[in-house]
Amino acid sequence: MTDPLLKAEIHCHIEGAAPVSLALAQAEMYRVDISKIVKDGRYVWSDFSEFLLCYDAVASLFRTEADYALLTETYLTELAAANTIYSEIIVSPDHGDRIGLGADAYLAGICDGIHAAREKVGIETRIIVTGERHFGPERVIAAAEYAARAGNSLITGFNMAGDERMGKVADYARAFDIARDAGLGLTIHAGEVCDASSVQDALDLVRPSRIGHGVRSIENQAVVERLVEHSTVLEVCPGSNIALSIYADFGHHPLRDLMAAGVRVCLNSDDPPFFRTSLAQEYETAAAVMGFSEDEINGMTRTAIEAAFVDEETRSRLL
Ligand code: ADE
Ligand code: ZN
Repeated sequence: MTDPLLKAEIHCHIEGAAPVSLALAQAEMYRVDISKIVKDGRYVWSDFSEFLLCYDAVASLFRTEADYALLTETYLTELAAANTIYSEIIVSPDHGDRIGLGADAYLAGICDGIHAAREKVGIETRIIVTGERHFGPERVIAAAEYAARAGNSLITGFNMAGDERMGKVADYARAFDIARDAGLGLTIHAGEVCDASSVQDALDLVRPSRIGHGVRSIENQAVVERLVEHSTVLEVCPGSNIALSIYADFGHHPLRDLMAAGVRVCLNSDDPPFFRTSLAQEYETAAAVMGFSEDEINGMTRTAIEAAFVDEETRSRLL
């Protein structure tokens, strides 16, 4: 039976969406030993730092335009099968550079995958270029410059992911100025592993319309009030937060309290196989474990589409 709820996702990292079976096939093709990061059909890591290393190791298994096309089409096809009508994927040109593919071919492969999925299953997709914070401010600025001059109509947003504990938001503000000047939508990972002050800095220095995670805003009432006042949308990824031990279990997750405080929130999968989840699973958990009603869940889907980095004509067709 197909899942009846329409879904939308605005926070998923493309390399983080690689199914373990695909990573194993890539490793075999390129003769890479990945026994340290895949065990018993699961990605293996023990904390946030190890997760980021595992992510980079999996990314290094995708080496050609065709590899990225396959990864992207595979992910989007799975999303569409779960009744997902809109997706934004977070992509990092640095990962293309690091493997020697180059940012242009990396993006070309991802765009091929998007077009193939659209053709096959009709899913609408946009690209958010990200800088990785732990690669340093110069690389994040280079990613913003790349996004700004790429002239690719599928690239509609700019993000910063990676290790939130590295440096200060101020060190990265210039990257967001470049992206803003280019007309890109802005979002930034904050308030995930670091506390509400990280969200406060992001609001002060980046002025994003969305925050990646942002769940630890709940620790500071003034930050929550700012999110409400500015209608900032939190891209919440509950399964990711539990897997990374930000919260002990779904009963302690602040999604319900954020919504009750008037913060605009939506559901996302982040890096689904790394956290043994999927967008469909996040929706299912929100209903069955976190107790959200169908109306509340549909409201979160609507929020994702309202906050999407997409042209108004497409938005109104999706709403
Ligand atoms: N890159 C991929 N997943 C991430 C996460 N949950 N936080 C920060 N950077 C990431
Ligand atoms: Zn993320």
